[in-house]
Amino acid sequence: MPLITHLVEHLSADQLPEGVPIETEVGGKKVCLLRKKETVLAFTARCPHAGAPLCEGWLNGAGHLVCPLHKYVFNPENGRNLSGEGYKLFRYPVEIKEGRIFITVLSD
Ligand code: FES
Repeated sequence: MPLITHLVEHLSADQLPEGVPIETEVGGKKVCLLRKKETVLAFTARCPHAGAPLCEGWLNGAGHLVCPLHKYVFNPENGRNLSGEGYKLFRYPVEIKEGRIFITVLSD
């Protein structure tokens, strides 16, 4: 499967609210975007535990993502599960060029 880089057409980096996960679709995949200061992170929109919509989750006081269903905690910067259940958040590479967001996904 080839890696393909897609432009997020309807959002630029400065339109993303700081610290609020936003769901979008890129290359036919649902992706969660999260801006932390000048960095934009992208990861799977479905929780690796039981598929809850992660963009309905929130950041805790340490800046880690809390899943809305069972409250497992993930580090959005490296995908690690911090609450001890052993799951990993699948992350997508992100590039910002002139404020536009590009995300690389595996095509099906
Ligand atoms: S579905 Fe996310 S923690 Fe269970």
